[in-house]
This record gives sequence, structure tokens and C-alpha cells, in this order.
Amino acid sequence: MGTIQIIQGDITSLRVDAIVNAANSSLLGGGGVDGAIHRAAGPELLAECRTLGGCKTGDAKLTRGYRLPAKFVIHTVGPVYSGGNRGEAELLASCYRKSLLLASKQGLSSIAFPCISTGVYGYPFDAACRVALAALRETLPQTGLREVFLVCFGPSDFGAYRKIFAEG
Ligand code: AR6
Repeated sequence: MGTIQIIQGDITSLRVDAIVNAANSSLLGGGGVDGAIHRAAGPELLAECRTLGGCKTGDAKLTRGYRLPAKFVIHTVGPVYSGGNRGEAELLASCYRKSLLLASKQGLSSIAFPCISTGVYGYPFDAACRVALAALRETLPQTGLREVFLVCFGPSDFGAYRKIFAEG
């Protein structure tokens, strides 16, 4: 049975089987964690992304990690938050679920997620954490994954996430 751990740091520095990118539907790069991942992986990542034909919101696609310490990148597209009544929670849950299933299908054992949709896409942080944890706790047992890391960029996010995690 896999474990879930909340950690703080820069996701691009992690030596795991796959890191997840909070991308946009073009898969051609952007700001935030997406920009950091493309900078660290090098131009080969963008070249592979160009072959994928984009990605729908809530879906996930896999590439190699190139110059990253991580072997693979799973690109997923979170919802833009617009009040909470436009299926945002289900789409966000789908990002976590599909990313785990894709990693498992690839035979991977460790995966690290950023806090998808909580930056530019405006999803309220605590609500996004609850959606992420529910989706991961439900899906993880159906996979062969052993370690899931939830990566917080800043200390206040880290504190908030750990509190929600402890609520069970
Ligand atoms: N490591 C870990 N987490 C990070 C890092 C990092 N290096 N950099 C930022 N974060 P965002 P979104 C955190 O805006 O809301 C892009 O332009 C950040 O603090 O990166 O899903 C895409 O191309 C926040 O908690 O992603 C899309 O257009 C979290 O990552 C759009 O932004 C997500 O923030 C996607 O928006």
C-alpha cells in the first residue's frame, strides 16, 4: 500500500519516478510550476510536448523528464476556478486520479504533485487540498505506486496542507 507525504520545496529538484506538471491545455509551457519544469528539463521537453496534441482539462499525458532528476513528467491540466459551481472539484479530482493511473500503468513507484490549480488558476488552497487528498486516498490502493509526495512551494502552504492532511 502506497504512502502519501506532504513536503515543502521545489518540485523540479526531486529524484522521483515522475513529477506532475500543472500545465495548460496547449502543453506548450507557461508560468508558475510549468515554467520551472520546462526550464529545468530543457528544450527537449517542449519538443516532446509539441507531439502530444494538447491535453483536456482533467486529463493527463506522460513525457520523459530529460534534464530533470525525475525520469518522467506527467502533464495534467487543472480547472480554472470560477466560483466552484462549474465542475471544478470533479475536474481537479480527475487530474489526481488520471495522473496516478498513468504512472501506475507505466510501472512507476514514486510520484510528486504540485498543488494543481492553486496558483494562476485561482482554486482556493484549502478546498483544493481536500479534493486532492480524497482523490488520492481513493485511487492509490488501485495502483502499484509506493510513494506519493504532495509538494508545497511555500511554508504557509506547507503548514495549511499538513493541518488538512492530519484531519484524515
Ligand atoms: N515547485 C513546486 N511548486 C511550485 C513551483 C515549484 N517550482 N512553482 C510554483 N509552484 P501554478 P495552476 C506552486 O500557477 O494554478 C501556468 O502558467 C505554486 O505555489 O503553477 O495550476 C500553466 O501553464 C502553486 O501552489 O499552476 C497554466 O497556464 C502551484 O504550484 C497555469 O499556470 C500551482 O500554481 C496553471 O495554473
